[in-house]
Amino acid sequence: MSVAVVVGMQWGDEGKGKVIDLLAEDADVIARYAGGHNAGHTIVFDGNQHILHLIPSGIFHSGTLCVIGNGVVVDPAALIHEMDLLKKAGVDLDGRLVISDRANIIMPYHSTFDKGRENSSGFEKIGTTGRGIGPSYADKIARAGIRTCDYRDEGRLRKKLKANYEEKSAILKDLYGNELPTYECMFDELMGFRETILKYIGDTHVLLRDQIAQNKKVLCEGAQGTMLDVDHGTYPFVTSSNSISGGACTGLGIPPTQIDRVVGVIKAYTTRVGEGPFPTELHDSDGEKLRKEGHEFGSTTGRPRRCGWFDAVVARYGIHLNGIDAIALTKVDVLDRFDTLRVCTGYKYKGKIYEEMPADLDILGNGEPVYTEFAGWNQSTVGAESFDQLPDNAKRYIDALGKILGVGFLMISTGPGREETIHQGALF
Ligand code: GDP
Ligand code: IMO
Ligand code: MG
Repeated sequence: MSVAVVVGMQWGDEGKGKVIDLLAEDADVIARYAGGHNAGHTIVFDGNQHILHLIPSGIFHSGTLCVIGNGVVVDPAALIHEMDLLKKAGVDLDGRLVISDRANIIMPYHSTFDKGRENSSGFEKIGTTGRGIGPSYADKIARAGIRTCDYRDEGRLRKKLKANYEEKSAILKDLYGNELPTYECMFDELMGFRETILKYIGDTHVLLRDQIAQNKKVLCEGAQGTMLDVDHGTYPFVTSSNSISGGACTGLGIPPTQIDRVVGVIKAYTTRVGEGPFPTELHDSDGEKLRKEGHEFGSTTGRPRRCGWFDAVVARYGIHLNGIDAIALTKVDVLDRFDTLRVCTGYKYKGKIYEEMPADLDILGNGEPVYTEFAGWNQSTVGAESFDQLPDNAKRYIDALGKILGVGFLMISTGPGREETIHQGALF
């Protein structure tokens, strides 16, 4: 067993950063396969909190190699900022960070487009992070994107930027009245990052192929979550990449036959940032309590996260789509002070109960959740060292989730820190 994927099972922010950091202890390579700096992966140890946006969550384990795959869209300014922060924190990146030479670059006009479309009246507001993610993936699919390998050839970079600049500046001016900086200014800015980034760029498919051939342990890091996947999530209220486990194959160039395990990270309740349907969302004091106890504010934008009960329809959907064979259950401690907990088992819409995830957002947006109730435990679970140490009602709740999910728990997390984790087996 040498290649594993770690994937978010809900609408992102499930605690992937914490889980990947823990699993990275036994891994040789950690490779991000999708998204960009819309992600915010939090890792807490030695009393310090680190939030990573682009650099894989294994970077704090000095023996690991960290890869940013071709499926990731890279904003060079954001990347360099993150690299600087890590260097200041004493993390050595040289020889440990490799960025795919096939990754698309996020350009300044991408975030202008992102914000312009969000503020325009014609389209539904998605509540994006405003980081240019969607427009950058759109250019990639339209075969107009600029890639990191273009940094190797100044003439080619110039030509590609020129074509994009002419197209984008005209559209942005016409549509949103936005004036871009001059072409020369944009080119100079792009070139300003070249020196720093170029030495980290490489063929990550070949690197990963060779690492796998040597039986090295590779952890593929997902970003966002299953319900934000562009094909399988709550479209159009999704991100613009394939965040599900299959995205690891396309986003890293690892063939499906080489993936041995898939770990799903899922919160003991549900959150979502941005717009879009969220059947179990709570608008009452319970929702407020989840937000407060769980510190549910976005790691990237600081926006308050919408909070609600655990949704078994979402969970089962994620199990099948991702081929999950082990679960990391997070934030159990956030439920420590509730009298009653609820789990949604289906959506009731126009007299019919839906137990499969519908494509139609009307059902998801207007359906009534059907709930099963559980007694709370009103006791702290923080730092419990084994499942047996948990309060009986917590065990009942977790066992019920286990039955819904139909796969075992690799770990149960009861706090943000590394040590606040119940380990129930090894990944590799
Ligand atoms: P990611 O995007 O999936 O990596 O998740 P985020 O880092 O955006 O959000 C998860 C938040 O919950 C972070 O602030 C973590 O430090 C925190 N966290 C992770 N696991 C636990 C847990 O078991 N209990 C509590 N209370 N916080 C946790
Ligand atoms: P991690 O990896 C939570 C959401 C945004 C918005 C939608 C589209 O930390 O779990 P985008 O900027 O991607 O075009 O925004 O997706 N979103 C996330 N929500 N966690 C994330 O990443 C997210 N990345 C994007 O809030 O609703
Ligand atoms: Mg996050």
